[in-house]
Amino acid sequence: MTTIDTAPHAFWLAGRPVRGAQEFDVTSSWDGGLVGRVSVPDEEQVEQAVAAAAAATDAFAATPAHVRAAALDHVAKRLAERAGELAALITAENGKPLKWARGEVGRAVSVFRLAAEEARRFNSGEAQRLDTDPGGVGRLALTRRFPRGPVLGIAPFNFPLNLVAHKVAPAIAVGAPIILKPAPATPLSALVLGELLAETEGLPEGAWSVLPVPNDRMPELVRDPRLPVISFTGSDTVGYQIADSVPRKHVTLELGGNAAAVVLADWSSEEDLEWAATRIATFANYQAGQSCISVQRVIADASVYDALAEKVVAKVRAQVTGDPTDEATDVGPLVSEAAAERVEQWVDDAVAKGAKLLTGGTREGAAYAPTVLAELPADAVLATAEAFGPVLSLHRADGVAEAFAAVNDSRFGLQTGVFTHDLQTAFRAHRELEVGGVIIGDAPSYRADQMPYGGVKDSGQGREGVKFAMDDYTYERVLVLTGLDL
Ligand code: SIN
Repeated sequence: MTTIDTAPHAFWLAGRPVRGAQEFDVTSSWDGGLVGRVSVPDEEQVEQAVAAAAAATDAFAATPAHVRAAALDHVAKRLAERAGELAALITAENGKPLKWARGEVGRAVSVFRLAAEEARRFNSGEAQRLDTDPGGVGRLALTRRFPRGPVLGIAPFNFPLNLVAHKVAPAIAVGAPIILKPAPATPLSALVLGELLAETEGLPEGAWSVLPVPNDRMPELVRDPRLPVISFTGSDTVGYQIADSVPRKHVTLELGGNAAAVVLADWSSEEDLEWAATRIATFANYQAGQSCISVQRVIADASVYDALAEKVVAKVRAQVTGDPTDEATDVGPLVSEAAAERVEQWVDDAVAKGAKLLTGGTREGAAYAPTVLAELPADAVLATAEAFGPVLSLHRADGVAEAFAAVNDSRFGLQTGVFTHDLQTAFRAHRELEVGGVIIGDAPSYRADQMPYGGVKDSGQGREGVKFAMDDYTYERVLVLTGLDL
């Protein structure tokens, strides 16, 4: 059983640790043990946090870059110092194997470091001459970016630290107050991040709060006019409910996907297929498939399909499943037994409708075995839904056009991996695939935290990636200088 601290964790209200009258338990989906207790903010406390964020808006926007950058650097340094403890916490609250949890902490360090670097570069302004027409003689435009206002960041359970970092660090970098609502299943990493933010100096009171409010109280926060920016990561259903409920707010949605790995005819040597199969098997199952860019579909040219399929199935079978705290484990449990039951139902549905089960297809509690399907019928739920579990389906295509059409035959469009050596095909993929990112020579799951990250179609709107989120949290305001002798 997981070791626990039974005192309820305080939440962070305008940078101060505070407790409410109620609390809830965070439990391990692996062994059912209590991981921690978390204090819940009551309505008055939420009101105080929002009011403090609104009151801090001007002061925070005016905070010098070096102060914001130093705060971000401090958090990066402290995350690195506490990396072991944080990785264990992520594993305990999320069920993510320790090896992946360590990677997540390392990425969160990078996100804060990148945000510190961007904060120093941000908003030097762009000058434009206006005398390109007679009416603009003697005039110069200087464009700079200013925060839209306080941000409501709503984070998911699948990266309880790094996807929180992607909301918080850009807000601090631009000087926009943020209210962070962590996922109810995994609030503990975000609360530790609060400890590190509380150690920083120079940020105004109200610059940040971490409020573990239950999901059924989220709509009140979403509607609050003092929070004009919403950055949400989670399911498309909830994401579009949010966007539809506040059409005049600036809403960024990082939603789901059913990411494809395309293996083309030129990716055919033994070494090529080994690499593709290894990456596909790994990234279909990392975090038990609970990533928006985990591989859900493999679309292989008919000339390489059989050889690839054999290798993929062998490598999926070789994934080490079990206790996420075990160093050797590749695939741990899903976030809950209910999540694993949903995956089980969808695989059973696919098989009942004619899909071939090549491996997996079994469940034990919250753990679902890494699964490969072939010949997935179009009417199976898994043919169109986001699996968000360790399930992969294999598809055959004749040539590049058919493979790319299969990728685009989806209501989602987040990232695609294309295994090809051909530069022209790489550019064709970039041109033709309806997604936010194309990864050549690797799985679609590759993400570097400085890259723009986000989708098209039902995968969302707006972009994360530190600099891109900073742009999203701010708007351009132009200053026109007149009467200049240029
Ligand atoms: C996500 O699941 O959307 C995030 C993936 C990542 O940050 O690697």
